[in-house]
Amino acid sequence: MKANKEQWSSKFGFIMAAAGSAIGLGNLWKFPYIAGTSGGAVFVVVYIIFLLLLGIPILLSELAIGRFAGSNAIDSCAKIHPKWGFAGAFGVIGAFGVMSGYCVVGGWVIKYIINSFTDTNMGADYFTEYSSKSFEPILWMAVFLIITCLIVTGGVSNGIEKVSSVLLPTLVVFLFGIMIYSLTLPNAIEGVKFFLVPDFSEITSFSDFMTILFNAMGQVFFSLSLGMGTLITYGSYLPEDNNLASSTITIVTLDTLIAIVSGLAILPAVFSFGFEPTEGFGLMFRTLPAVFSQMSGGTVIAALFFILVLFAALTSSISLLEVIVSWVCTNTRLTRAWAAAIISALIFIAGCFASLSVGAIPDIKVGSISLFEFFSFFTDKIIMPLGGFFICILTGYVWGIDKAAKEISNNGRLKFAMKKLFSVTVRYIAPFLIAVIFVTSIADIA
Ligand code: TRP
Repeated sequence: MKANKEQWSSKFGFIMAAAGSAIGLGNLWKFPYIAGTSGGAVFVVVYIIFLLLLGIPILLSELAIGRFAGSNAIDSCAKIHPKWGFAGAFGVIGAFGVMSGYCVVGGWVIKYIINSFTDTNMGADYFTEYSSKSFEPILWMAVFLIITCLIVTGGVSNGIEKVSSVLLPTLVVFLFGIMIYSLTLPNAIEGVKFFLVPDFSEITSFSDFMTILFNAMGQVFFSLSLGMGTLITYGSYLPEDNNLASSTITIVTLDTLIAIVSGLAILPAVFSFGFEPTEGFGLMFRTLPAVFSQMSGGTVIAALFFILVLFAALTSSISLLEVIVSWVCTNTRLTRAWAAAIISALIFIAGCFASLSVGAIPDIKVGSISLFEFFSFFTDKIIMPLGGFFICILTGYVWGIDKAAKEISNNGRLKFAMKKLFSVTVRYIAPFLIAVIFVTSIADIA
């Protein structure tokens, strides 16, 4: 009955692919800096609460919809109800927005790999100096996009899955090593406190508090690749005997583990070197080279680390580009190669403006924020929460909890102990939270 004949070769393969899409710059680069600008430990606590109330139920819903309908995001939603195809449509526009900023950061990572080899001194001000150049960051951004595009057109994503099964665990080992090293730096304990011991007295106004909630919600969606239908598509390749609930828990646990370890690798060092945790998107690029420069063999470690970061970024970016490419291929007569090339060119144009807005031409702004930051605002805080909201309504009311639970329990063959909890979060808590945070925050900004 299923439309998709292709299936994941193994449970491990699926987890690695889904985790490969989820784990990326969002965990390594974004989580520590958003935590840094959003009050540290308070943010981390809210983030974990939102993982439970939003992340897990929405991820599970997406997988269930995908496996039930066995098709791409839009068609899967439409199969549940003919009028609901739009709920899966957020992916295409979201992927474009995410990629336009992602490729800029991917380009920075490539530059840092090269610098590690050539032993260029990456002092504390190097990041600002480099990111505000006009030409070079665009060049490396283009390289990142070209690699992504080649992998997507080459259809070697399968090979990538095998490689990721090796590189992802390697990244985890590296990250743990860097974390342990960072924790031994002088004054590191200040960073640990900042990151893990909540200080609610820092929150002085309602609008501060709402900003933290809004940032945490956006980060949950971004980090788990939610609200864009990506996991609907991934779910459509799942075999009928896969335990969706336990897969969900595994993916969320891995993703969160990497984010937390990354925070513990970066924030203690921030405090130790006397940097500012609120510094924003340059945090990782400024801090880690400082850590590496203190290690013996630091240049080699730096090079290897940034290669692993690049790899994690690529496994996410190929799945992002794939979302758009497969949509264009089914809806136009373009070949895969042309579709990938044209879309990459469009992303390149948007990416150029994003890159320039970081420093070379700071006037490229939307409201009071740079275009680069606007892309992340637009995707993490508008597109993905809206997508997630509709997924909840679709699952909780249109499809119905009983049918969803039937899919999740593999037709009653597995016990779905959390059905009640799932029902309450999908029908009430998650949509309510998204709506309230969304409306208050937008009202606050406007
Ligand atoms: N989760 C990815 C990261 O943490 C980024 C991302 C967001 C993504 N949405 C996605 C990846 C959709 C693939 C598909 O870096």
